[in-house]
Amino acid sequence: MKADKWWKDKVIYQIYPKSFKDSNGDGIGDLRGIIEKLDYLKDLGVDILWLSPCFQSPFADQGYDISDYYAIAEQFGTMQDLQELIDESRQKGMDIILDLVINHCSDEHEWFQKACQDPDGRYGKYFYIKDKRADGRCPTNWRSYFGGSVWSELPGHPDKLYLHVFHKKQPDLNWENPEVRKELYKMICWWLDKGIAGFRIDAIRNIRKPKVFEDYAADGEDGLCNIERMIEHAHGIGEFLTEMRLKTFDRYNAFTVAEVSGDVTEDLTSYVGQEGYFSSIFDFREIELSYSEDIRLHCPKITAEDYKEACFTSQYAFSQCGTPVNVIENHDGPRAVNRFIPRGEICPESKKMLGALYYFMKGIPCIYQGQELGMENPGFHSPDEFQDVASIYSYQYSLQQGLSPAEAMKVTEAMSRDNSRTPMPWDNRAFGGFSTVSPWIKTTDDYTERNVAAEQRDENSVLCFYKKMAALRRDARYKKTLVEGSFTPKWKTKKNLMAYVRKADKEILVVGNYKNEPDRIVMEAPYTTVLLNNYAEDPEDKIEIRLKPYQLLIMEI
Ligand code: GLC
Ligand code: CA
Repeated sequence: MKADKWWKDKVIYQIYPKSFKDSNGDGIGDLRGIIEKLDYLKDLGVDILWLSPCFQSPFADQGYDISDYYAIAEQFGTMQDLQELIDESRQKGMDIILDLVINHCSDEHEWFQKACQDPDGRYGKYFYIKDKRADGRCPTNWRSYFGGSVWSELPGHPDKLYLHVFHKKQPDLNWENPEVRKELYKMICWWLDKGIAGFRIDAIRNIRKPKVFEDYAADGEDGLCNIERMIEHAHGIGEFLTEMRLKTFDRYNAFTVAEVSGDVTEDLTSYVGQEGYFSSIFDFREIELSYSEDIRLHCPKITAEDYKEACFTSQYAFSQCGTPVNVIENHDGPRAVNRFIPRGEICPESKKMLGALYYFMKGIPCIYQGQELGMENPGFHSPDEFQDVASIYSYQYSLQQGLSPAEAMKVTEAMSRDNSRTPMPWDNRAFGGFSTVSPWIKTTDDYTERNVAAEQRDENSVLCFYKKMAALRRDARYKKTLVEGSFTPKWKTKKNLMAYVRKADKEILVVGNYKNEPDRIVMEAPYTTVLLNNYAEDPEDKIEIRLKPYQLLIMEI
């Protein structure tokens, strides 16, 4: 069994298997592709590899719709491949965590198939199946995350509906049913027995539904309301989560990081405290700055000040109770540099500054594949280029809300999940060396220059900077401070400058000049050493420090 909180000093790397590396020339990434690249990951300095779902699935939502929790998706390989990946990673000192998608399964899962055959039987109770109202209306007016009603007709039963808070091919599992919970816990332990180190837990806040199913005030032309209203009315999720922890994760000392949507600041101790439901949860406060319930307001410009305030608020909240997983991008949105750096100012320096500012806050940093290369949104030119259900819906919904096709394209493109799902560029061969054939989704245009091989050769690349960050975090002299040290904002009111001090046995100052113009700061005492700098020369004066545009400095003080 691993030591208590063994995960505290780790760095996570998220792999989106479909787009990481294709080993057999079918245009789709796979498990053997990941095995080929383990040395790359080791060299990058990451410890925990989180694999987005690799289970059997019709891929309506790219694998987040699982039709067999005990089987590997054919396109990705075999159980043998996964076992090899687990074992080889471990030999190299890295751990695998899998994606646990248990709010819903696929409509092609055996459970749902049986529920359709006999809605009043045993498997009918695995889902939320309701009769249509007398006037034919749905039981509630909740809008699914991907658009349209959360209710769809149960195949073969025109009088009945089933609930899906995501896509209609993702029926929600009924957590009120103890048999469902038992089945899920059995599956979780089965995977932990295979030697994985834990899970990233998907969309978990949705598992609890309100006691009463009723309409809430409509907020769109479609007469529906945002699904967040459902979550606000659902109480007592802790019963399920505590039970799950005790029956599964705790027995293995597994690491768990949950995707918890919405603001749970008030409840943070229950989630990540000493007896919390999970080891950690993602801190999405920065990412959530881009979302608005009004689609027209999606993806507003995020200023340096907004970003800084979000980080400081979260750091303060977590300091009272537990460890966040810090994240600036994932498979569910645009690339971080497009989100957080103004267009026209996206450059190697600003990318490195953004990378370091979040990486050295208190918590566990999580890097999404390609982030370490400074990858940017690929640019989509027509709605036909979208693969993602959510983007396809967002475009249609925007039109319905009265946006022009050009505006609809603009808001959809800005936030599209496909932005981050393009193939990982490994070298300058065709398709970035990701595959020998045309990949399932378009490749970024700039892959000839922005790719792993090119950045490995250039010691000033974003990739080499990410390696330096990993080396600093694990440097025995600074590790205690960077992992466990307190977090205190510095020069908080200084505009467009983000700075903080980490303090334990050492004191380390992190400063990011978050703008495209110079600035200066005055230290209380001369700094001792520069530990990381995204420019070549260290500051001349050790007290009065002149910062270049987007300069990032980490100093021992
Ligand atoms: C999570 C995943 C997302 C998926 C959804 C439904 O938010 O990150 O990709 O579509 O859950 O499973
Ligand atoms: Ca393949």
